[in-house]
Amino acid sequence: MNNFTFRNATKIIFGKDTENLVGNEVKQYADKILLCYGGGSIKKSGLYDRVVKSLTENGIGFVELSGVRPNPRLSLVREGIKLCCDNGIKFILAVGGGSAADTAKAIAVGVPYDGDVWDFNEGKAVVKEALPIGVVLTIPATGTEASDSAVITNEDGWYKKGLHSEFIRPQFSILNPVLTYTLPHYQTASGAADIMAHIMERYFTNVDHVDLTDRLCEAALKTIINNLPVVLEQPENYDARAEIMWTGTIAHNDLLSTGRIGDWASHKIEHELSAIYDIAHGAGLSIVFPAWMKYVYKHNINKFVQFAVRVWDVDLSFESSEVIALEGINRMIEFFRKAGLPVTLEEANISRDRFEEMADKCTASDTKTIGGLVKLDKKDIINIYELAK
Ligand code: NZQ
Ligand code: ZN
Repeated sequence: MNNFTFRNATKIIFGKDTENLVGNEVKQYADKILLCYGGGSIKKSGLYDRVVKSLTENGIGFVELSGVRPNPRLSLVREGIKLCCDNGIKFILAVGGGSAADTAKAIAVGVPYDGDVWDFNEGKAVVKEALPIGVVLTIPATGTEASDSAVITNEDGWYKKGLHSEFIRPQFSILNPVLTYTLPHYQTASGAADIMAHIMERYFTNVDHVDLTDRLCEAALKTIINNLPVVLEQPENYDARAEIMWTGTIAHNDLLSTGRIGDWASHKIEHELSAIYDIAHGAGLSIVFPAWMKYVYKHNINKFVQFAVRVWDVDLSFESSEVIALEGINRMIEFFRKAGLPVTLEEANISRDRFEEMADKCTASDTKTIGGLVKLDKKDIINIYELAK
């Protein structure tokens, strides 16, 4: 196990009706805020009205930034920064999914910064301060509710990049599983694939003696595997929704990274897809992760055998490690397929004509490689896109 420092200061308020506590939480930070949300699901469900009531009862005024779209855009972040500066806003509340929360986070770092906020995503500047933010989460998926990341798409060239800083972990996140009842089937499934991907990015490591976090990862994966089919059949099953929602936070709040080095190549490879083709991030991952696994499994076959046996219940009596490892990968593909997710690029209507451009973009760092388990260069990335066809 490697040395590590772990701190996750986000306060989680979990359970039924908890959105009604939002005004009471926010008033500890500001009496005038930016309220940031997406394309209207929160109005349709009535959540918007409940949040506004709670804010108003607690004497909190607000300015609105609505219309955040999935794979959130830089132009709206810039608009939000201007709104905050013009109105003297000192706190941002995101109500919605990862896209609303990430927009709020990017605005939060952009307000006190003199330069252009995209500098942070490009690594040209380091975050030194940020406005505090809070989240009322409506979709378990990204883990942004307790993560140190915000992923934004720059329409100028369709670059999708994350910015990372302790300053952007939310002060609090409100998680009421009932709010996820209205999710379309596809968003529920995509969210679950993203949660599984966050766990698997951490699970596939070359660091030895990480027994506790291996077992925690396996338990978290099993929880999604057991509960996703239930919520797809019964969208209003509170207990199953609650299991998925809490797993979504644990998957990406860094507890499962302690003492180990994650991989993260699949996320980078996927971000290029959702940047250009605007597919749901989780659906991109259900395509990319299996292809990545097939490409790299021989580099650490024992880990893939462990994954197959412990997570997918593959029988150890299969004739070879290779067969066991591949059976685990195939069972995962079948699981995604049954959930209605795409598992090939073709199923997402993505052709091969931009593989080279995407591979260039995701290996654009100084080292020209990505991946913690196996270092992958541009040629490898193209091969993985080819395998995902
Ligand atoms: O916009 P509205 O109308 O709210 O509709 C949304 C949107 O269309 C809808 N939705 C959300 N909750 C709903 C609902 N519809 C009905 N009922 C509800 N309860 O779902 C659609 C998707 O919303 P979005 O916020 O885009 O989903 P998600 O949470 O999956 O966020 C995806 C974004 O987060 C990034 C992804 O790359 C992508 O840009 N990620 C952020 C991370 C982070 N900050 O730590 C890590 C992840 O790996 C990921 O990269
Ligand atoms: Zn993700």
